Amino acid sequence: MGARENREALRQEAERLRAELDYHNWRYYVLDDPVIPDAAYDRLMRRLEEIEAAYPDLRTEDSPTQRVGVPAADLKERPPVTHSVPMLSLENVTSREELQDWLGRVEDGLGSARSPLIVEYKFDGAAIEVVYERGVLVQASTRGDGTVGEDVTANVKTIRELPPVLALPPSRMPARVELRGEVYMAKADFAALNAQAEAKDEKPFANPRNAAAGTLRQLDPRVTAARPLRVVLYGLGRAEGLEVGSQQELVAWCRSAGLPAPPMAKTAGGLDAVMALYEEVGAARAGLPFEIDGLVLKVDSFALRERLGVRARSPRWAVAFKFPPMQEMTRLRAIEVQVGRTGVLTPVAVMDPVYVSGVTVRNATLHNREEVARKGVKIGDMVIIQRAGDVIPEVLGPVVEMRTGKEREFEMPDACPACGTRVVFETDGPLVRCPNISCPKQVKERVRHFASRRAMDIEGLGEKLVDQLIDGGTIEDAADLYFLTVEDLKDLERMAEKSARNVIDAIAASRSRPLARVIHALGIPEVGEHSSQILAEHFGTIEALMAASEDDLQKVHGIGPVVAGTLATFFGSAATARFMARLRKGGVEFPPAARREGGVLVGKTVVLTGTLARMTRDEAKEAVLAAGGTAASSVSKKTNLVVAGEDAGSKLAKAKSLGIEVIDEEEFLRLLGRGG
Ligand code: IVH
Repeated sequence: MGARENREALRQEAERLRAELDYHNWRYYVLDDPVIPDAAYDRLMRRLEEIEAAYPDLRTEDSPTQRVGVPAADLKERPPVTHSVPMLSLENVTSREELQDWLGRVEDGLGSARSPLIVEYKFDGAAIEVVYERGVLVQASTRGDGTVGEDVTANVKTIRELPPVLALPPSRMPARVELRGEVYMAKADFAALNAQAEAKDEKPFANPRNAAAGTLRQLDPRVTAARPLRVVLYGLGRAEGLEVGSQQELVAWCRSAGLPAPPMAKTAGGLDAVMALYEEVGAARAGLPFEIDGLVLKVDSFALRERLGVRARSPRWAVAFKFPPMQEMTRLRAIEVQVGRTGVLTPVAVMDPVYVSGVTVRNATLHNREEVARKGVKIGDMVIIQRAGDVIPEVLGPVVEMRTGKEREFEMPDACPACGTRVVFETDGPLVRCPNISCPKQVKERVRHFASRRAMDIEGLGEKLVDQLIDGGTIEDAADLYFLTVEDLKDLERMAEKSARNVIDAIAASRSRPLARVIHALGIPEVGEHSSQILAEHFGTIEALMAASEDDLQKVHGIGPVVAGTLATFFGSAATARFMARLRKGGVEFPPAARREGGVLVGKTVVLTGTLARMTRDEAKEAVLAAGGTAASSVSKKTNLVVAGEDAGSKLAKAKSLGIEVIDEEEFLRLLGRGG
């Protein structure tokens, strides 16, 4: 056989292999019903890789082999994706009454028309949009702020259950279709991934949602490919050449095209039927292979959806019926006291491990001594723990009935558990501090914070390494990092020349981090990521910020008097001046920042109500201001948006009665571009 014939034979074989692999991916990931063993699958994949390696021109863009190993460079710096139809969020209801209200509003809006309601799981993952052009997967993006998202095409292409090519005959192939859905991680896959991470001494993910969102936004698609992401598609953006008129038709079409459709899409007649389903799914929830945080109710007919329309950030035709946060009971073994980077002593509950709504919880902060007293917990108590908003585990309180009499009262120590220095009890608040700024624990925490992902992002400078560097006296503070050499590192425990070189390279790379990150990295009390961004955008350069008076700082939109005070104190100190000078000398560049134009809340009046889990009320206000909005204290017709935390009361009720848009904390964070 001549070279040409041989090549033609291989082309045909490759084509056949691709079709087979796509079919097996579909059996395995969509139907959960593989027909060949993994090893056989792997053989097919290897054969295809072999052919494509020998004849690179036989490799097609949609080949199953191309779903792994796309170079990292392809993802970095990809321009953002503007969604042609905004990706909205959902209004939440949490009770029969609220649901009834919503149903009433839908009925009113529809007049005499009627449409069934479709009930689906509310998947707890990260929203995405995928675009198929003439049947080929060409683009995937995150929701971002709803209008503009990140391009995650390379990562999404690694998700095996998403076919690179739609399984439709040419006559039924739409010219272009934008599909919306959720990327998530199955509970079992999540547990396995975390077990792996722990074995490698890496930080485990907090929950499947974080793991999915983090993996989706990974810069290296090879890392994504090695992690078990899944996807489900439940919505439609713009479509050309596709005639579907309802959710049921969409779900059926997805199935016919080989796309992963919602595993449950039930029609429900009315309030009682939805309530029954809510109870049923709620009871079965823990046994599902993936995490859900509620149900989503949607008007089936697309034409009637049009009639109902959308509000600023959520449609009137759909609602999320959320499950209550999950609670569990476990034994409080001890209350440990941790020292943070500002010297604050924090009591932390150490409990027998317990699984709460998908996460194993061992520790939970008790915040401060007043909180311990308020909760009334004693060491040895059986305690109720809850994952508030399904995110942060929280100790609610003791089960007093189960006390034996052997429980012990918690007391704040007089001396810092890390350095033994006598602690200082705040007179006007609940905080207790170690006043020794050279306290090794404080120094370690400061360096750790400095190097952390959201600050200088120094990869490889983990907890253990920081401990070694400080305990061994190699560095005394974060500025010393910039004077380290491979020589300094390579003889440390668990460090080889290669990894030492990587750490030094990572430190070098951090010299050019944007100004906002550098400010955040300094760890100034009360100055978080957001304030740092505001400061960078306002002052433009580190010199201007350092030269600002407390008065100047107070005038900055979004900077409150407390933050202005701590900033002035921080930059006024001689120790800070020396530290900044050494960062400079070490080559940190402090690149000037561009000034900000506006924010997502420009012109909007926002009311905050209830308890927020991930930020204080002040931080939330600051965030509203920083995004260009106005924070008001009471709800009126002028209110554009209400952010409702836990236990929101009359303001929430008023907002609902006025038909004002209500979002929860999670949604608020996403709106600000800080969601997971
Ligand atoms: S439909 C117009 N269906 O929940 C909004 N969303 O809190 C259409 N979600 O951003 C959304 N499961 O990421 C829809 N079955 C489902 C869903 C679902 C999870 C997410 C989605 C959305 C968020 C709203």
